[in-house]
Amino acid sequence: MLKKIGLVILVILVAIQFIPYEKNEGKPAEHPISGSYNIPANVNKLLINACNNCHTNTSEYPWYASVEPVGYWLNGHIQNGKRHLNFDEFTHKPLAWQYHKWEETVEMVEEGNMPLESYTNFGLHPEANLTDSDRQVIIDWAKDQMAYLKVTYPADSLVMKRRSPPPA
Ligand code: HEC
Repeated sequence: MLKKIGLVILVILVAIQFIPYEKNEGKPAEHPISGSYNIPANVNKLLINACNNCHTNTSEYPWYASVEPVGYWLNGHIQNGKRHLNFDEFTHKPLAWQYHKWEETVEMVEEGNMPLESYTNFGLHPEANLTDSDRQVIIDWAKDQMAYLKVTYPADSLVMKRRSPPPA
């Protein structure tokens, strides 16, 4: 019996290695933050090390991403991260949305919610372990982008409009 179950699991594990899915690579960055915002080299390095794999159009996949179901699981994080925030599809969005995402960036990094814990656990991405001063660099930078938007655009263009309520 145990042997049979083992065999079934093995067959499933082998089979799922071949289910295709689209990787997050190759799509050009059409509206990258670098088009509208200043990204100092030290900030860019932190973003590359700790954020861009889940928040841009190009992820660097580790070898174990080719082993399923690990790859599906990683891809889920990437797709989910990009849906919330994509630094490569950013500057064509409404200003209020952009302003809000900088606000969220400050919050997420301040609270230690980003990068995702599962990303830095197990020592798999040592370069993404941010020190307090790294975090402060990202926070200050995101705040600078908010300040820049504030002095550049009218205040009401930076406020998220509530969706109008459905007709009664
Ligand atoms: C391993 C993937 C991963 C990494 C690395 C990562 N994120 Fe995220 N990020 C996510 C996911 C997934 C979400 C969606 C939130 C959730 O489901 O909890 C998210 C959400 C966010 C949000 C919230 C956006 C919103 O408005 O909802 C911000 C801001 C953010 N991340 C910034 C960052 C920053 C800055 C870094 C680097 C310091 C980073 N993330 C690193 C996966 C990641």
